Amino acid sequence: MDNHSVYRTNVIGTGEAGVAISVDMNKNVVHTVNSLFWDTKGTELLGATSLPLYGAFVSEDKCQLFGDVSGKKLLEIGCGSGHSLQYQGERSAAELWGMDLSENQIEKTRQHLAACGLSAQLVCSPMEEECGIPENYFDFVYSVYAIGWTTDLEGTLGRIASYLKKDGVFIFSWSHPIHKCVAAEDDRLVFKKNYFDESWYSVSLGDSTLTLSDRKLSTYVNALAKAGFVIEQLIEESDEDIMQSWSTNSDFAAKAAMLPVTFVIKARKL
Ligand SMILES: C[S@@+](CC[C@H](N)C(=O)[O-])C[C@H]1O[C@@H](n2cnc3c(N)ncnc32)[C@H](O)[C@@H]1O
Repeated sequence: MDNHSVYRTNVIGTGEAGVAISVDMNKNVVHTVNSLFWDTKGTELLGATSLPLYGAFVSEDKCQLFGDVSGKKLLEIGCGSGHSLQYQGERSAAELWGMDLSENQIEKTRQHLAACGLSAQLVCSPMEEECGIPENYFDFVYSVYAIGWTTDLEGTLGRIASYLKKDGVFIFSWSHPIHKCVAAEDDRLVFKKNYFDESWYSVSLGDSTLTLSDRKLSTYVNALAKAGFVIEQLIEESDEDIMQSWSTNSDFAAKAAMLPVTFVIKARKL
């Protein structure tokens, strides 16, 4: 490790760790690195989180953020495996749309939905960019563990606001930033990373590389406000029943009992 590298725990999800190298953020490089990651080993290394789960310990079954989606138009940002679109399709959504940076993930979604007798309009594009998704059209835009990959949070939330009808709802989940700072070690939680540090870094997991930055919770809240959203709910709780279902010696479940590993925000376009 040189002076610019640091060992990071909890890169995303449960507890992946690797040597992180600080990088200057270059949008095109980030998209090339991350689309290669998701085109190849991404899901195998990080797993897919999909509705009804918003993260390992938060579920829509308990939170009921969507309510009745029958007859509604829904768009998923970073649709990945397609399982969340399946979840919405089975709840009689009128129209399903999904977008993702990775061709491979889009193909996975297409095949998964077809196997379930469902279909969606699928768009392969970075979420940061104009990509032909209609404006003032959707009742719900949602995203499960994908928004944090954006290179331009304010721009992305502005685009999401433009896709929604007035009073439309945006729901998304991501790793809680405090989870990124704290590691479980020998039955103790140890603070490992500066909460305020939002710099970009590259991490190698096996022979794959991803590029990311960890944003503060206030960065998300303030960017939502700037994009014209009002927050209706912020969820930081770990679900007791889900924690009970994990093995008693799971470090991750023990950590989730002490601090939020996932946050979920429900916001409404004004
Ligand atoms: C953790 S996965 C989301 C998991 C998804 N909920 C599922 O069920 O598979 C993150 C997804 O975001 C996508 N992604 C990463 N960066 C993106 C970007 N800039 N724009 C759009 N999608 C992006 C990845 O290709 C990947 O499919």
